[in-house]
Amino acid sequence: MSGEGGAGPHGSGEGRRGGSAGTRNGDPGARRRRIVAGNWKMHLLAAAAAGFCAEVRRSLAAADRVAPTAASLDRGARVQVVLFPSFPLIPAVVRDLAGSEVEVGGQDLHPAERGAHTGDVSAPQLADAGCLWALCGHSERRRDHGESDELIGRKVAAAARHGLTPVLCVGETLEQREAGETFAVLERQLRTGLAAHPVAAGTAGVLAAGTAAALVVVAYEPVWAIGTGLTASPETAQEAHDFLRRGICSATGAAAGGVTLLYGGSVTPANAAGLIAQPDVDGFLVGGASLDPGQFLAIIACSG
Ligand code: PGA
Repeated sequence: MSGEGGAGPHGSGEGRRGGSAGTRNGDPGARRRRIVAGNWKMHLLAAAAAGFCAEVRRSLAAADRVAPTAASLDRGARVQVVLFPSFPLIPAVVRDLAGSEVEVGGQDLHPAERGAHTGDVSAPQLADAGCLWALCGHSERRRDHGESDELIGRKVAAAARHGLTPVLCVGETLEQREAGETFAVLERQLRTGLAAHPVAAGTAGVLAAGTAAALVVVAYEPVWAIGTGLTASPETAQEAHDFLRRGICSATGAAAGGVTLLYGGSVTPANAAGLIAQPDVDGFLVGGASLDPGQFLAIIACSG
């Protein structure tokens, strides 16, 4: 099971995440860790969340029993599954998934540890609730709450400081793409988003020895593809991921060169296989399709 025994980003050292896909920008013998994450956004009530967890748990366990030596073990060894429920659902989801391979994260966090910030949630509170992950800078936060790149960078750093793996979300709007600004936007969001993260602060070597949770995942989510049914073509996604991979390597140095890069934006079982076949696509951040256990499981199944 990928979430047990230290195989995930929270249970092992830099060496585990330090591998590369083997096709570009890295060691040809290893492969980056694959992750499929479900972002539930502001959906689901407690009963539906419990039903979802029970079904996913049952299906992943059954897959391991039926074919323990083939695809399921392969998947279990290589795909980390993460769920991002809304805050009120987190304790129940953590409890319902305890002992399974599925890990849980918060959809946002405040960069401060505590204080007078009504309506916000801190990294220590997420960790205390059983979270191991935090989304930072999702485009809906940027849009609905005016989050700046600088604020998002502080969120990324706060998550890392408190043992949560930040998933830094970046992506251009349709207007930016049509204006030819895609790479400039990605560059700015990536650089500022990672600037305060320990891996970009020249201490990666120290942190690698001390805690693998200091690492980061980056999700490329073109805004025009989120919730629209328009998915980036595999070639468009690969082009952006390749650009981001180079940026991450230059921002973080070789020690963090194996950072997992997720694609998000109308991912479904129908388009996941083509996307995951790209050398720099290491998994998915799934919105709409993550609300349906059958679709979510199908995306996991084709991501191993
Ligand atoms: P979507 O959402 O899969 O519904 O497009 C993805 C996301 O916002 O993370």
